[in-house]
Amino acid sequence: MPLSAALKALPKAELHVHLEGTATPALVKKLAARHSVSLPAEIFADETTYAWSHFNHFLTVYDAASSVIRTPEDYRDVTWDYLRQCHEDGAIYVEMFSSPDHAAMNGMSFKDHLDGISAGIADAERDFGIVGRIIVTCVSHFGAEKAVEVARETARHVGHPHLVGFGMGGNEVDFRRSDYAPAFTIAHEAGLPCTVHAGETGGPEVVRNAIDNLPVKRIGHGVQSIFDADLVRRLADERIVLEVCPTSNVLIIDKFPTYADHPFLKLREAGVIVTLNSDDPPFFRASIGGEYAVAEREFGLDEPALRGITRNALEAAFCDEATKARLLAKL
Ligand code: ADE
Ligand code: ZN
Repeated sequence: MPLSAALKALPKAELHVHLEGTATPALVKKLAARHSVSLPAEIFADETTYAWSHFNHFLTVYDAASSVIRTPEDYRDVTWDYLRQCHEDGAIYVEMFSSPDHAAMNGMSFKDHLDGISAGIADAERDFGIVGRIIVTCVSHFGAEKAVEVARETARHVGHPHLVGFGMGGNEVDFRRSDYAPAFTIAHEAGLPCTVHAGETGGPEVVRNAIDNLPVKRIGHGVQSIFDADLVRRLADERIVLEVCPTSNVLIIDKFPTYADHPFLKLREAGVIVTLNSDDPPFFRASIGGEYAVAEREFGLDEPALRGITRNALEAAFCDEATKARLLAKL
């Protein structure tokens, strides 16, 4: 649905989106043609979205679609195309999760993937004025040793102007967050702020395990915290920011089958700092503008409240203070 003019004009910021998961079927098909490879037709539902049935299947389709991102130029194009769409939605700042593991599976070094994304960020800022930054992520179901390798490489690139943080996505039910403490410690000691997916497909115990054992300032999703009142209080007291992705959650988490079931408002009313995010936009027919529209339509947030969400995101952003101040001045 197109955004209203007022909603489009509202400055937005995004903290949680997987770069490989932003590539539209149209772009993925273009990259497949660029490399003369064919992808299984069944991964596409249509020109704008992918076909998947449950979370682990989603991860498989995600890997298949990202397999065509093979060169720094491909990463540049994926990044630029996503930031262009965000700019059209009125976003002024986007932190994107990159996955060097996916890059490596497709024959690219850490530096190749970073250079490509960085070029996309620079080109998008030149073309649209939008500011993009990179959070390098490891993937839990690729194992704790791989995570340490990713953290070491990331630590070696601290000081890169677009690299601002470290994180982890992937399967949180079969892989304990605390097992990744060595990776997160490397990133943290190198000066990188951290975030981790927890409380998406897993329950509140996964969020507790994450905040008890990892040096994280933010939690990816965290929405299943709602089932533990003490945990909700702790998140509020410790000002741990939740990167909430309502549309993704409604499609992935059985416990929240509709927006009316989603705990966004309850968490916010309990004093938890919440933000709005799209996660893997074409997989969920989501967008950053669309999530703000959901918050307006389904959660009843008015314009000042939506501005407050952008303020939450900018204040919790991992970029440097000067960039943050420049962006906050646009609010
Ligand atoms: N990787 C890409 N999207 C993800 C999600 N929603 N949860 C966990 N890992 C992911
Ligand atoms: Zn995510």
